[in-house]
Amino acid sequence: MPVRYSYSNIKKMTGNFKDKLGEGGFGSVFKGKLRSGRLAAIKLLGQSKGNGEDFISEVATIGRIHHTNVVQLIGFCVEGSKRALVYEFMPNGSLNGYIFPGKETVSLSWEMLYKISLGVARGIEYLHRGCDMQILHFDIKPHNILLDANFLPKVSDFGLAKLYPRNDSIVSLTVARGTIGYMAPELFYKNIGRVSHKADVYSFEMLQVMFTNNLS
Ligand SMILES: Nc1ncnc2c1ncn2[C@@H]1O[C@H](COP(=O)(O)OP(=O)(O)OP(=O)(O)O)[C@@H](O)[C@H]1O
Ligand SMILES: [Mg+2]
Repeated sequence: MPVRYSYSNIKKMTGNFKDKLGEGGFGSVFKGKLRSGRLAAIKLLGQSKGNGEDFISEVATIGRIHHTNVVQLIGFCVEGSKRALVYEFMPNGSLNGYIFPGKETVSLSWEMLYKISLGVARGIEYLHRGCDMQILHFDIKPHNILLDANFLPKVSDFGLAKLYPRNDSIVSLTVARGTIGYMAPELFYKNIGRVSHKADVYSFEMLQVMFTNNLS
């Protein structure tokens, strides 16, 4: 089970939010250190509605999940309107930096990309079929694939994932979100059809296209 931290604890772990790793659609991510010395990435979420109960139950579900290709949730914080998620730290950042390399990163070999693809596929398959609840991610993209010290890929960010009972493989979405370019058409055009795990498969394929684009 994930650990519940107080906000002052979160502040302490991040050294008063000193080291910002990045920012996404849901808030900012800071580097932090747990009492054990283990490094963490702490996502401070933006203002959210609701009383926190939904958040806690979602976090409890996500926190029970464990797979080598899925980023581990270590803990969380809910204090009034303040919410944070504490994840294991991924020293090699997101895949985005490698398939669109900048100054500080190198591009990855075909062999590495193949291994990464396989790992991502395993992570997604676990979310879809390996848990008690089917977890649909809806935002598979290079930013949300993180790399550990050995470049083992981990699927991150279940901020958009909604949890559904396993036997309900087709669901209708009331709040769909994703990222243009990776998002399946049925998520974008809500009248096209019903949404299933195949939306993640579509995004996974778009990821593959990005790999080949970058290397050709
Ligand atoms: N567990 C982690 N370990 C190391 N770095 C991380 C971790 N989680 C996130 N980051 C860094 O923080 C950045 C921002 O992450 P965040 O999830 O907030 O935004 P995003 O992935 O770009 O977009 P989205 O909001 O759609 O997920 C990432 O690009 C990544 O570099
Ligand atoms: Mg992300």
